[in-house]
Amino acid sequence: MTSQRTATMGEFLVETQKAFPQANGGLTQVLSSIRLAAKVVHRTINKAGLVDILGDAGSENVQGEHQMKMDIYANDTFLKSFKSMGEVCGVGSEELEDFIAFDDDIHNNSKYVVLMDPLDGSSNVDVNVSVGTIFSIYQRVSPLGKPVQLEDFLQPGNKQVAAGYVIYGSSTMLVFTTGNGVNGFTLDPSIGTFCLSHPLIQVPENGSIYSVNEGNYVHFPEGVKRYIKYCQELDEPSGRPYTSRYIGSLVSDLHRNLLKGGIYLYPTGTKSPKGKLRLLYECNPLAFITEQAGGRATDGYQRIMDIKPEELHQRVAYFVGSTAMVLEAESFIHSADRS
Ligand code: AHG
Ligand code: MN
Ligand code: MN
Repeated sequence: MTSQRTATMGEFLVETQKAFPQANGGLTQVLSSIRLAAKVVHRTINKAGLVDILGDAGSENVQGEHQMKMDIYANDTFLKSFKSMGEVCGVGSEELEDFIAFDDDIHNNSKYVVLMDPLDGSSNVDVNVSVGTIFSIYQRVSPLGKPVQLEDFLQPGNKQVAAGYVIYGSSTMLVFTTGNGVNGFTLDPSIGTFCLSHPLIQVPENGSIYSVNEGNYVHFPEGVKRYIKYCQELDEPSGRPYTSRYIGSLVSDLHRNLLKGGIYLYPTGTKSPKGKLRLLYECNPLAFITEQAGGRATDGYQRIMDIKPEELHQRVAYFVGSTAMVLEAESFIHSADRS
């Protein structure tokens, strides 16, 4: 009897590419550069505390948020990885005021742009709690041969060709989709290889976990307040009260809910009138993953991936996870609007 070895991510990408003969390997290269940068960031995060990588960098990003040393390190690591391969013509990042155009003959003829949150949940890194990287890949819409333009980055999420995240948790995982389901790869640190551990992830249709920063309750819209109270009410047949779980690292909260079933919500509120999370770097890529896993992602009213972005750092309210739970939250919002 022969036992089959788990596929590595490299093998998986080669096989997937074979299934799409029209693909020229460019997207595989982009995913390979993400895989490489993820290993570098993994190695450094694992040594945090021993090397001078913890703490505040003493600077702020364009959104007025404190930058941690790890934010800048992860941003630089991913940028270098994209630049060293010739398939990406430009990158937009939560940590950069404007997008970067890799303006030379090779990169101007590349067709992919990447948007990323290089380190998500970075306030968690100093206290040894899971963080992540989120990425989103599009084909440029401006002509080849010229530097990439803002319009290449301001595409709706339904134009993504691939998206995913890396979670630096008790193990490091890379989870991605190219529009044919969601696959998760766990890093085996002893051989430095991502191996297929979670093929074709499906989010349960319903769940019993709700994830929200309840400290902001007083600021939430009425419908969201009512939904949270509903989650806490006793109703044994429907499994309520639900369990509350909130890490404060979107990647980790979403990853758990994807595997177990649940809803993550970051609504609008007077503290963050448009919501806190960023449409291009956080919400769109995780919406693509969630939908591909059978779940739902909206701003309470419309599909996240159908929103036409107007600016790079646009924020949006976010309701994401098990379809039945997101629909339920939406119905509370709509009925509060009517009353
Ligand atoms: P980032 O570290 O990339 O700025 O993202 C932080 C985000 C997200 O990961 C998390 O879910 C959320 O902010 C937490 O916000 P609150 O502390 O306001 O709950
Ligand atoms: Mn983030
Ligand atoms: Mn971040």
